Amino acid sequence: MPPRWKRAVVKLSGEALMGNQTHGLDQGTLDRIAADLAAAAKSGVEIAVVVGGGNFFRGIQGADKGIDRARADSIGMLATVMNGLALEHAIEKAGQPARALSAVPMPYVCQPYSRQAALNHLGKGRVAVLAGGTGNPFFTTDTGAALRGAELSCDVILKATQVDALTTALLSLTDRAHDLPSGLTVPAKPVSNYQPAGKAGQLMTDLNCFSCHVINGRGSDLAPELTWEGSSVQRAWLQAFLKNPGTLRPALIRRMPRFNLSDSDINELTDYILAVYQTPAFDRDSMPTSGYPAAQVEQGKQLFYSKYGCQSCHIVDTKVDKGYVGPTLTQVGSRLTAPWIYHWLKDPQSLRPGTIEPNRNMSDEDAHALTAFLMTQKGSGRQEAKKK
Ligand code: HEC
Ligand code: HEC
Repeated sequence: MPPRWKRAVVKLSGEALMGNQTHGLDQGTLDRIAADLAAAAKSGVEIAVVVGGGNFFRGIQGADKGIDRARADSIGMLATVMNGLALEHAIEKAGQPARALSAVPMPYVCQPYSRQAALNHLGKGRVAVLAGGTGNPFFTTDTGAALRGAELSCDVILKATQVDALTTALLSLTDRAHDLPSGLTVPAKPVSNYQPAGKAGQLMTDLNCFSCHVINGRGSDLAPELTWEGSSVQRAWLQAFLKNPGTLRPALIRRMPRFNLSDSDINELTDYILAVYQTPAFDRDSMPTSGYPAAQVEQGKQLFYSKYGCQSCHIVDTKVDKGYVGPTLTQVGSRLTAPWIYHWLKDPQSLRPGTIEPNRNMSDEDAHALTAFLMTQKGSGRQEAKKK
């Protein structure tokens, strides 16, 4: 059967290579992934793999230990080269030629990355294993994958952090009967020319909001999508954030820049975002921001810590909770609108497609109680989570 796609970029996180271990490489997992990649390449798809390094080192963790960000990210880039070399070897062992290319030149170890070299290998049926990220600190492997996808004119970018998902994705590259599982692909090209209007629109263009945020299909996904930001956040919070952005999601490597906006610019942006970037799914004022009955709040707290174990990914109490995967929720009651939280809990993917927030088909009652509990979390800025 002829391949469905001509050329694909596969983003492989370092974590996918560690199998059940806590770090490093798991030989069985590595061989299995290599065999899948080799099979996809044998079927005639040109495959470029962008490897991450999180199984050895994560820049964000280094930065937490006091290593400055640029240096921590450089260590992370070296980790991707280690994975790249291991993967190159495993793919060749699986019977398919492969070449590791590093965006950070280290000619004694492997070929430096260039578009020309990568296209040359791909054209010869070799799997191109792309290490070193973009070659610059401050950019994640996701960005590396998007960049290489565009540069190498790939038809599709596959993104899989789990091995099973990756296998499914690779197998469907060659299968005409099935579409690729949604959630495993990211669009290889920008899809819209959306332009916001008026003074706020001008500010957003001048300040390049689209270089990090997607709004109405335009922009890049380095930061959270803002298309429905107006339904999600409270006015005072948004104003304060634009003035002095703090950390919301500890796991995000990138930070929102501080633009030194004037108060009038901040008001323009806030008014515009609140008025225009609204989901049709609900009215942002349909639930109160405070005044929930104590019993309901208590019930929500129980659900948070016991039934749903939300603290595995979130922090509400900075003294005991250890969840760094999702945003810190110490101030969520001053940040988000109650209907956003409620609808988020009922069906997170309807608000942010592809988010890893688990969808639990939660009952209305549980979602209301959790919303009540979270709306009481109005901690001051000082309480922001710090990793120890
Ligand atoms: C260099 C990249 C970058 C640029 C440019 C940028 N942002 Fe951000 N922004 C971020 C990141 C990263 C976050 C997420 C911060 C976090 O979660 O800790 C963010 C978060 C936000 C949030 C909060 C989102 C939420 O979760 O509620 C808003 C609102 C926002 N940005 C608005 C803007 C606006 C308006 C502009 C243009 C004036 C802009 N950003 C430009 C990187 C950027
Ligand atoms: C597997 C980890 C995980 C678990 C478990 C989890 N969350 Fe989340 N949560 C996330 C991530 C990741 C995000 C950020 C999503 C995004 O920005 O796309 C998030 C975002 C949120 C948000 C903010 C949404 C926003 O727009 O900023 C709320 C509120 C939330 N979670 C509540 C909960 C509650 C309540 C529970 C327990 C019922 C829970 N989460 C369990 C990972 C998790």
